[in-house]
Formats: sequence, structure tokens, C-alpha cells
Amino acid sequence: MAQAAIIGTGFFVPDNIVTNDDLAQWMETSDAWITERSGIRERRWLPRDEAGRTSMTGAEMGAEAARMAIRDAGIEPSDIDQIIFATLNPDVFFPGNGVFIEDLLELHTAGAMDIRNQCTGFIYGLAAADGFVRTGTARTVLVIGAEIQSTALNLSTAGRDMAVLFGDGAGAVIVQATEEPGRGLLASVLHSQGRFARDLYVEAPMGNVKERINADMLANGRHFPEMNGPMVFKHATRRFCEAINEVLTKGGRRIEDVDLIIPHQANQRITDAVAARMGVADDRVFSNIARYGNTTAASIPIAMAEAVRAGRIQSGGLLVTVAFGSGFTWGANLIRW
Ligand SMILES: CC(C)(COP(=O)(O)OP(=O)(O)OC[C@H]1O[C@@H](n2cnc3c(N)ncnc32)[C@H](O)[C@@H]1OP(=O)(O)O)[C@@H](O)C(=O)NCCC(=O)NCCS
Repeated sequence: MAQAAIIGTGFFVPDNIVTNDDLAQWMETSDAWITERSGIRERRWLPRDEAGRTSMTGAEMGAEAARMAIRDAGIEPSDIDQIIFATLNPDVFFPGNGVFIEDLLELHTAGAMDIRNQCTGFIYGLAAADGFVRTGTARTVLVIGAEIQSTALNLSTAGRDMAVLFGDGAGAVIVQATEEPGRGLLASVLHSQGRFARDLYVEAPMGNVKERINADMLANGRHFPEMNGPMVFKHATRRFCEAINEVLTKGGRRIEDVDLIIPHQANQRITDAVAARMGVADDRVFSNIARYGNTTAASIPIAMAEAVRAGRIQSGGLLVTVAFGSGFTWGANLIRW
């Protein structure tokens, strides 16, 4: 049976940098509070025109990341027979962003699937790509995570707990069938716990309300994301560690064998707590949250693309990706590069 290897990576972030001091102009917060609680110093937000429309769509950012991954893999776009697009911020209510990628990259009717698993979306996406390749459903899969967070946030003091954490961006990988023994995705674990869905969610627009959104909902801010920060923090640190241990056991490897962990970039304090609990030195845990904030489903593929370019993932290296997020959902992948 073929294995699924990652043969190319790419990413895209907007040029527009928003610093912690910039945020302090709009809400009661400070660079010191944000840096100490999250490790975030700046994030990228797409610029908006006077009508409030961003300069690019999420699918267009995803396409930029995908073009870089395609070049990196040395394949032709027409080699791609399946798209998996992970996002919690689709450009429109339906269809999903995957089909817009099919059009933007002129992929000539490749399959397109969207995954709505928030910060864990890319982990689920890689697991799905692995399944497609192993069963012969697809040979070359484009997996993208892309998010526009900046249009969703409440930029007043009432929304500051969420607003300071999130950024825009996109990352992409090419997953392709390989006969090389021992290479590629070795194991994945996927979990969810819906009883905590309302501890990190956005309510509106909603399918069971006439016209999906109304003036009352807008007036009450029900279209802004809400989060029980301490609850998310507590569950995240526990689930990150559990998922890493579970995927290692499933793949028959030990933590000492792992060259690099790429955690979802949620919060530097979560990353530090996980590294300490796992007994892993900082130089084996990738972090770029100081520069981009939390880009949800895009954070792992952006980090992966940067880690490759920084020489921190080498051919044959053992990599663990791990995430936790809204749902709650969590999971991990074990990958031989
Ligand atoms: C959000 C988070 C940074 C807040 O840190 P915390 O230490 O838990 O802080 P608390 O929520 O207890 O809030 C402490 C105080 O800071 C205030 N505060 C919240 N956001 C603030 C901000 N951006 N700037 C300044 N003060 C802020 C709160 O209002 C609260 O004030 P109070 O004590 O007067 O009520 C932290 O809970 C966290 O990182 N949670 C996980 C978030 C996450 O990763 N989400 C995505 C998951 S994928």
C-alpha cells in the first residue's frame, strides 16, 4: 500500500503588520499584557477598503500558499487530484473554499473538500489526505489551511480577550503517494468533545434562524467570537500532551525519537507548558507566534513551511504536529519527512 509523503510546503501572510501598540489605540490593552499572556508581539491583518472589504479573500490567500507549495514540490497544478481546505472562516456561507481554489488554480475538476475543525483543521486535513492516498482515492492532495480572522473580531475593549490573539494567513502542503518505505504520515489521532462547543465559538450567522442573522443579533454582538480563555487554556495543555503521547504510541515511536514538534500556534504559554510537561527542549518545538499570532487552521502549515526553510526539518527527520481548538477538537500527526 502506498504511503502519503509531504513533498512540498508553502505559505502566505499579508504584508500589513499590526503591533500590540496598534491594538492599544482601539481597546484597553497593552503590549506588556499581550506579550506576557500570549507571547504575541504582532500579527498580519489584510488591509480593508472604505467599505470594509479585505484586499484578498481567504481562498486567494490559500491559492498563494498553494502556488508556493506546488513550486516547492516540483509538480504541475494538474497533478493535483484532490483539494482539502481547512478553515473556520469560509469566504461565503456555502460553498466551501475548496472549490474556489479549484477555480483559482485551474485544476480541471479536481475533488474539493472543506474541513470545519478550527485550530485542529489542518491535523484532520492531513489525516484525511493520508486516507485518500492509502486507499487510492487520490494520488496527489493539496492540503490548505487559510484564515481571515481580522474581519471577525470585536475591536472594542469588550472583545479584547479574543482580538489580541488572532491573525490572518495561509499555509499549504502537497501530499503525494510514495513507495519509499517508512516515509510520510505514519499515524494520526483525532478527537472531539462537543459538550465544550460553546466555550469557544461564534453563534451567528446561524442555520436555524430565519434569514440567518438579524439586527438584534448584530446589536448584541452575537456575530463576534466568544471564548472562555482559562477553560480553553486548561484543556489545551492537557490535550496537547495526550495527543502527542497517543500518536507516538500508535506509530511505535518515543518522544526522544522526535526531531521537531510543530504545535498549533495558540499561545506561547501553552506551547511552553506542553514542552515542559513532555520534557522536550525549546529548540525541538517550533514557534513563530510572536510574529503571526494565532492563525487557526493556517498556523501549522505556515510553521511547517518556515521550519523547512530554516533547515529545522531535514529529509528523514521525525516530526509531530499537534493541535487543540474550538469544538473542542484536538489531534496529532506523526510524520517521517
Ligand atoms: C486569553 C488568555 C490569554 C487570558 O489570560 P488569563 O490569564 O486567563 O486572563 P483572564 O481571562 O483570567 O483575564 C485576566 C484579566 O485580564 C483582562 N483581559 C483580557 N484580555 C485582555 C487584554 N487583551 N488586554 C488587557 N487585559 C485583558 C480580563 O478582562 C481580566 O480582567 P479582570 O481580572 O479585571 O476580570 C488565556 O486564557 C489564554 O491564553 N487562553 C487560551 C486562548 C487560546 O489559546 N485560544 C485559542 C485556542 S486554539
